[in-house]
Amino acid sequence: MSQDFNSVQEEGRVMLVTGGAKRMGASIVSILHGKGYRIAIHYNKSKEEALALQTKLNTIREDSVIVIQANLSIDIEKVCKDVVMQAYSKWGRLDVIINNASIFFSKSLEDTTGEVWDEFMNTNAKAPFFLTKAAAPFLRKTHGCVVNIGDSMCHRSYPGHLAYFISKATIMGMTRALACELAPEVRVNCIAPGSVSWPESNFYDDEFKKTLLSGVALGRVGSFEDVVAMVDFLANPNNSNYVTGQIFNVDGGLFGQN
Ligand SMILES: NC(=O)c1ccc[n+]([C@@H]2O[C@H](COP(=O)([O-])OP(=O)(O)OC[C@H]3O[C@@H](n4cnc5c(N)ncnc54)[C@H](OP(=O)(O)O)[C@@H]3O)[C@@H](O)[C@H]2O)c1
Repeated sequence: MSQDFNSVQEEGRVMLVTGGAKRMGASIVSILHGKGYRIAIHYNKSKEEALALQTKLNTIREDSVIVIQANLSIDIEKVCKDVVMQAYSKWGRLDVIINNASIFFSKSLEDTTGEVWDEFMNTNAKAPFFLTKAAAPFLRKTHGCVVNIGDSMCHRSYPGHLAYFISKATIMGMTRALACELAPEVRVNCIAPGSVSWPESNFYDDEFKKTLLSGVALGRVGSFEDVVAMVDFLANPNNSNYVTGQIFNVDGGLFGQN
């Protein structure tokens, strides 16, 4: 029997955003906070940015944001439980998890050691899995949802990023498996962004950027806001109540020539 979510209000719902202190995570936090969510901002190293964002948003709406520090690449099962418990305990509910935290850097096949493999898989795949597992009982209660962040380049790949693409393919595959497992109460979907901003590190030279963009139908880099619009759609059951186990490419049409 279908659930009637027509009366669901974003106001007061609780969202955990991993890697929420800056870049795309901070855009998700800021825009969704503006829609009425109470937000747990997870961060690892970006304490200053996380606290500044918390202060700014709590000034707009009192007691609406907390910050949670955790390194999601070690002692993962325990750390993920702790993070979820902190997010849940603050307001006694949890409605949405956005698995946004991720690492990205270049490694050739020769340089992909077991250590490099573990680093990518731990942060980009294992942590999202154990966060979801820890949150499942709370999300079931609220008929909540999980939004994973993958990468649309996974559908095609390019050299030099093996372990990264494998880890992102894992989170994308995991989305369907978890959607089956957590249905019918909890929806699990994935957004696969294309190039919505260049990485912070400087290893994309202008030539490579041009090559990447030559394969984008819309011919331009997207924006974090383009991705947040999809997060908003998927997080809100008023929009996406009958959507689960899906991967949504937000990539400007990444099917061109390169
Ligand atoms: N930017 C793009 O064009 C693009 C394209 C395709 C896919 N994506 C995906 O979209 C998401 C956001 O992209 P982005 O460029 O904003 O990401 P990002 O800046 O590379 O990373 C986001 C956050 O992940 C956190 N993080 C990294 N390692 C961690 C660890 N061991 N434990 C806990 N947190 C950790 C960091 O938090 P701290 O700073 O607090 O340490 C970082 O701020 C990612 O999943 C990315 O793969 C982005």
